Amino acid sequence: MLKNHWTILRKQYALSVLKVVFDMCGIVGYIGNKEAMPVLVSGLKNLEYRGYDSAGFAIINKRIIIEKDIGKIDDVQKKINASLLKGFSGLAHCRWATHGNVTKENAHPHADCSNKIAIVHNGIIENYSELKEKLIQKKHVFRSETDTEVIAHLIEEFHKKLGFEDAVKNALKEVKGSYALGVACAEEPGKLIAARNESPLIVGKGKNGMFLASDIPALLEYTNKFIYMHDKEIAVITKDTINIFDLEGKKKSFKISTLNWSKEAAEKGGFKHFMLKEIYEQPRAITETIDERLKNGDVVFEKELNLTDDEILKIDSIKLIGCGTSWHAALVGKFMFEELAKIPTEVEYASEFRYRNPILKPNTIVMAISQSGETADTIAALKEAKKNGAKTISICNVKGSSITRVSDGVVYTRAGPEIGVASTKAFTTQLTVLYLLTILFSKKRKTLNDKQIKDMIYGIRKIPLQIASVLNEDFEVVNCAELYHKRTNSLYLGRGVNFPIALEGALKLKEVSYIHAEGYPAAEMKHGPIALIDEHMPVVFIAPHDIYTYSKILGNIEEVKARGGIVIAIATEGDKEIPKKADHTIFIPKTLYTLSSILAVVPLQLLAYHIADKLGRTIDQPKNLAKVVTVE
Ligand code: G6P
Repeated sequence: MLKNHWTILRKQYALSVLKVVFDMCGIVGYIGNKEAMPVLVSGLKNLEYRGYDSAGFAIINKRIIIEKDIGKIDDVQKKINASLLKGFSGLAHCRWATHGNVTKENAHPHADCSNKIAIVHNGIIENYSELKEKLIQKKHVFRSETDTEVIAHLIEEFHKKLGFEDAVKNALKEVKGSYALGVACAEEPGKLIAARNESPLIVGKGKNGMFLASDIPALLEYTNKFIYMHDKEIAVITKDTINIFDLEGKKKSFKISTLNWSKEAAEKGGFKHFMLKEIYEQPRAITETIDERLKNGDVVFEKELNLTDDEILKIDSIKLIGCGTSWHAALVGKFMFEELAKIPTEVEYASEFRYRNPILKPNTIVMAISQSGETADTIAALKEAKKNGAKTISICNVKGSSITRVSDGVVYTRAGPEIGVASTKAFTTQLTVLYLLTILFSKKRKTLNDKQIKDMIYGIRKIPLQIASVLNEDFEVVNCAELYHKRTNSLYLGRGVNFPIALEGALKLKEVSYIHAEGYPAAEMKHGPIALIDEHMPVVFIAPHDIYTYSKILGNIEEVKARGGIVIAIATEGDKEIPKKADHTIFIPKTLYTLSSILAVVPLQLLAYHIADKLGRTIDQPKNLAKVVTVE
C-alpha cells in the first residue's frame, strides 16, 4: 500500500502548482445552455469540505423551485424531489451552520414571501436582527432562523419599486457584514446576480454558460477561466455575458484569469482521503516552496516580502498572528526568529490581538500566517495592525485571498490546494517559509556566520527527501494506531522548537479522531498532567536528539513509565537510549535542531490519520469543523 502511495505521488510531482480559494459554506450558480442540476450537484460536491450539515438547490424556470434538506449532499439528493428541478439556471448551497440550527428550514436557498427571489449566502449579516424587525413590521413573513433570509426579504422590499439589479444593490447598501451571495429572480430568469463582501466568490466564464462559486474546484470540470470578485462588487451574469458593478451601479472593469491546472490535482488521486494525499504531498509542497527562493547559496524573496535591507536591519520586534494550526506555525517561527535572527518575537491568537491594544513600535513587523487567507479573525487583526501603522506581511497559501490584499508584503507557501479540514502540508510549508525568513534575517543582521547559513540551506534542501523517508517507514505509526485507537485520552509532550509540534500533534488527533489530546511543554508535565498518567494513557514524546533538552526529556519519559503510562517517542535515527525506555520509537532522520519540527510533525499527522481511519471517522470533514472560519 505504501509503495502504491509513493507511485501516485511521483506522478503528482509532475503536476503544476495549484492555487485555490477556500471558505466555509459552499455556493454554486449556473446559467447557460445545459440542464443546471448536474452542474450544480457536481460543483457542490467539490465544495462539500466547506460545509456538510445541509444542502439545497433552486432552479429558476419561470418560477423558482427550491428543494433542500439536512445531511450531506448525497443524502439530500435522496430526500428531495429532483424531478421538479428542471431548468437551465440555478443556485446551490452546502451549509455549515452559524445562525440557526441544522434544520431543513434553515438550509439554503432561502426565498422571499412571494417566492420570487431566491438566495444562497456564505458569511454573516451582522445587522440582521434590526433588519428583520423592520421587515416584520412591513408584514414580511420569515420561515427560517437564519441571518440570510433577511436579504431575500430586503430585496423583495426594494423590488416593489425597482428592477432586480437595482433592488439587490440597494438592499446590499443596508446590509452590514460579510457575504458571498448568489441571487435569482423569477421575473428575470435569464440573469443571476453574484455579490461579495469579505467572503470569497468567483465568476466562471464557460463555453456553455456562466458560473458563480465560492471556489475554483467547483467549476474546474466546466471552465478554467475565472474572475475573482472584490469586496462590495456585484456581478450580473447571463448565459452569454458578465458585467460587474459597484453598489452605486458604476460599471467596473475586470480581469479574466486563466488557470492551467488540472481537476485531478484537486481530487484524491487514488488516496483514501484528501488528508492522506496531502500528508504524502509534503515533499513536493516543500520543494516548490523553497524552489526559486534558494539561489546561489542565498535566500531570495525578490519583491514578495516588500522589505528593504535597511528595514530588515531596523526590525525591533515581530508579532506573529494566526489561528489553529497556523498559530502553531507561528510558535515555531518565534523560536527560530529569536534563537537565530535574535529578533524579539511575540505570538498571538489573531482573535485576541484584534481586541487588544497591542504595542506596535515603528519598526514592529506584524506577520499573519494563514493557509486560506480568509480566516475572519486573522484578516481583522491584520487590518487592525495596519491601522496602527505597522508594516504587515502575510504568509499565505491562497493567491489573491483577502489577507494577501491587506498585507504590505506576501510570501506564498506553495502547498497547492489543501482540501482536508485538518491542515497538514500547509503547516509544513509555513514552517519552511518561516525558516527561509530566519535565514534571510540572520544573514542580513549578521547574527549567524556564513558556515551556519550554509548549513541551514543544506538542511532545508534535504528536508523533502527526509520527509519521503518518514512516509515510507510508517510501520510503527500504523502499529501504534492499531494498538491505541480505542484510548480516550492522550498527552503530547515536547520542548523548545518541538513544543508547538506537541500542540499540533494533539490538535490533529482531536480534529480527526475526536479523541481528547493535550499538548504540553514536557517539563510542565509535573505541574498537572502527570496526575492523569496511568496504564490507559498514551504519551507521545517529541524527543529528537539536541544539545538543549534531550537529557531532560529522557527523564520525563522515565517519569511516565514509572507511573505505568504508554510511551510513544519520536526520536532521531541512531538514538540508542530512547528505544530502551519507550514502548514504541518512531525514528526521524538527523537534521538541524530547528528543522526537526518539520520532520517530527509528519509521523504525528499520520498517527492522527490512521487512528481516525480505524475509528471510521469522516476524516476530510470532521464534525463541527470547517476548513475556513470566516466568522468570529
Ligand atoms: C480552521 C481550520 C484549521 C486552520 C484554522 C486557521 O480552524 O480547520 O485547520 O488551522 O482554521 O486557518 P487559516 O486558513 O487561517 O490557516
